[in-house]
Amino acid sequence: MKTIIRNGHIITAVDNYHADILIEDDIIQIIGAHLPMTADKEIDATGMLVLPGGIDVHTHFDMPFGGTTSSDDFFTGTQAAAFGGTTTIVDFAIQSKGHSMQEALDTWFGKAEGKACIDYGFHMIVSEASSERLAEMARMMDQGVTSFKMFTAYPGVFMVDDGGIFQALQKAGDIGALIAIHAENGSVIDVLVQEALAQGKIAPKYHALTRPPELEGEATHRVIVLAALAQAPLYIVHLSAQEALDAVIAARDHGQSVYAETCPQYLFLSYDRYEEPGFDGAKYVMSPPLRTIKHRERLWQGLKSNDLQVVSTDHCPFCMKDQKILGRDNFAKIPNGAPGVETRMSLIYDGAVSHNRFSLNHFVEVTSTMPAKLFGMFPQKGTIQVGSDADLVLFDPNMSTEWGVKQAHMRVDYNPFEGIKTAGSIRVVLSRGEVIVDHDQFLGHKGRGQFIKRHAVQNL
Ligand code: URP
Ligand code: ZN
Ligand code: ZN
Repeated sequence: MKTIIRNGHIITAVDNYHADILIEDDIIQIIGAHLPMTADKEIDATGMLVLPGGIDVHTHFDMPFGGTTSSDDFFTGTQAAAFGGTTTIVDFAIQSKGHSMQEALDTWFGKAEGKACIDYGFHMIVSEASSERLAEMARMMDQGVTSFKMFTAYPGVFMVDDGGIFQALQKAGDIGALIAIHAENGSVIDVLVQEALAQGKIAPKYHALTRPPELEGEATHRVIVLAALAQAPLYIVHLSAQEALDAVIAARDHGQSVYAETCPQYLFLSYDRYEEPGFDGAKYVMSPPLRTIKHRERLWQGLKSNDLQVVSTDHCPFCMKDQKILGRDNFAKIPNGAPGVETRMSLIYDGAVSHNRFSLNHFVEVTSTMPAKLFGMFPQKGTIQVGSDADLVLFDPNMSTEWGVKQAHMRVDYNPFEGIKTAGSIRVVLSRGEVIVDHDQFLGHKGRGQFIKRHAVQNL
């Protein structure tokens, strides 16, 4: 099967030019001006930007959490991702206490296979750092799971003590793995939560007030010190606070291999959402929580200056009606997480390019190229070049899109970005050469997504 995309305006992290693209089966075969050959299918991209498919390295589909399960599974979640211009996701398998990493990986393959309609990889969440568990990391690497998430938060569930994190970092340094950290001081947060509840403070806003930015800054600084001692690279997930960004900047200024992602919710929303009437603040209960407005522009600056390299979503949806409601009388029981896999590319295009914060090339870099590089998928994914997978987005910069629960494909009963209008519109999405989204129509099929066996971390 041959497809030609004609006359597109190709944007990568470093290029900006007009050309045709010949795709044969899954792969980009030729890029050139006015290609003379014919194909089985021709797509006219006149007036469109042709972008590498988005890569979201932080999703939670079908994830058991907080006494319930995230409401998108690997079909609905990846379909929504495709509508939003994302063609690869990396989700999290969970090694839970008393179980091996292999059991976790097999369970998550069972959730994704036959369902995912775009390509996917897995990180492994490590909730125990015994020598038996850490020995399994090398076996995960052999299977293409080359990154491991650990938590300084959620005591009793996912939290591992500093010694355990340090040992995992040492192991990661030895075998070329990347440790990703959810950095908040979980023990102190627990004290603040108990104090608030004892005072009858049960509303959603207390979720945010008991997780102050200082405790994200402290935990971020702590794991950076541990990574330096262990001589291992480090990746901070869902960074939300200026204090944490300052710690990352200081480490990078000293030449340490520290990387970090932020998410659209921290770039577009802020603490005042928790003050919405009734129980509506629960829509935004996620960890870390939304911060006050002063943090937002610092995060945009961090992206511009390369101190933050990635925008992911931390997509972890729970319906208000029957899931968030579990915390009606106690904010600590509200399942943590919010939807966003569909809105990421458009929001970041709007906030970055339309608002003149940084270039189209840099937009591609933070939403596709750097995620691919940091997580061992480049150049198969993350760029437009001969030999790469034909994961492409045709984006019309002259249209606009309004976001809301009615238009969305995510399986959740609210949209945190309700009513937000973004510049541009995703018109056509190809995954490995196959048109899977054409305007409002989904043309892909359940289960067509392939597992991406990722390679070891490259020092960038
Ligand atoms: O609130 C969040 N972030 N939920 C998903 C789990 C996590 O910590 O990433
Ligand atoms: Zn997390
Ligand atoms: Zn997460």
